[in-house]
Amino acid sequence: MLLDRFQREHTYLRVSVTDRCNFRCVYCMPAEGMDWMSREDLLSYEEIARLVGVFAALGVRRVRLTGGEPLIRRDLEVLVEALGRIPALDDIALTTNAHRLDGCAQQLKDAGLTRLNVSLDSLQPERFSQLTRGGSLKKVIAGIEAAQAAGLGPIKINAVILRGENDDEVEDLVEFFSQAPDVYVLRFIEYMPFGTRRHVTVPALELRERIASRWTLEPYGGWLGDGPAKNWKIAETGLRVGFISPLSEKFCAGCNRLRLMADGHLRTCLSDDGTPSLRDLLRGGASDEDLGAAIRAMVMNKIEGHQALVEGGKSFEGVMTRIGG
Ligand code: 5AD
Ligand code: SF4
Repeated sequence: MLLDRFQREHTYLRVSVTDRCNFRCVYCMPAEGMDWMSREDLLSYEEIARLVGVFAALGVRRVRLTGGEPLIRRDLEVLVEALGRIPALDDIALTTNAHRLDGCAQQLKDAGLTRLNVSLDSLQPERFSQLTRGGSLKKVIAGIEAAQAAGLGPIKINAVILRGENDDEVEDLVEFFSQAPDVYVLRFIEYMPFGTRRHVTVPALELRERIASRWTLEPYGGWLGDGPAKNWKIAETGLRVGFISPLSEKFCAGCNRLRLMADGHLRTCLSDDGTPSLRDLLRGGASDEDLGAAIRAMVMNKIEGHQALVEGGKSFEGVMTRIGG
């Protein structure tokens, strides 16, 4: 078991495969001035698979590939397949912006991908392009449909709602995905401030009340494999809707997750920039036992949680695209 000082057991690992992205979402990345990781800095697929094997031996059961945008790294299905050969893993998931998904959904499914999350914050083509700084909504919808056709459902759609920017689309999102309630689960995620707070968080309760004033929300107890989300079902349409509220209903006390960054640093808490490197150990010839011992020590040093509030508090450290959400 991978325990920390607060007796939290870590069974879930997010793996960022690249810090780059074909979008530049306004809340995730600055418009310019990112210094990207260089190619040699990135873990190879072999290195990632070996590290994930060590994590699995220590009790990790579920893995999610993220970025940046994971689908811009070449041949991602090769990594999915390699992870599929680690017997202890129950789940190999992917979080993507879906812009390139239509070309590879079936390949990913065949390689053993079990689940898929898509980030989608607007259903208005122009606003979508503005929020993502250049993304095409049409391509994303095509990607989502390809994933559905490949049998990758239920697909979780993650929407980050920003006050004054896309908070008028909550009902539209519910209506749109209610057209196929067996295929989609819609989740609203509170904006977390990284560095300077540039947007305004809309608390989950406010969104829930808005939805409840138009539809009937029933608590949904089924397993959706998503830890901190609080799930409901819209009685009229059957759509499952989740709320992820790291700020207004902080869930750090039950945190079970770790993040392996693309360059091999281990981000034990999303909010904390203290990230020791596993890559240097790995490339220095460490054995699996050495790596396991290093991971245990790093997890033991995980901080208790973040200190951000819906308004004010302390911002998260770093840049989201390097961390992988
Ligand atoms: N706050 C909340 N969610 C964010 N994401 C990226 N940056 C932030 C932020 N500052 C989301 C993306 C994606 C997931 C990986 O994290 O929209 O759905
Ligand atoms: Fe876990 Fe850190 Fe996120 Fe809190 S802020 S839930 S401790 S990763």
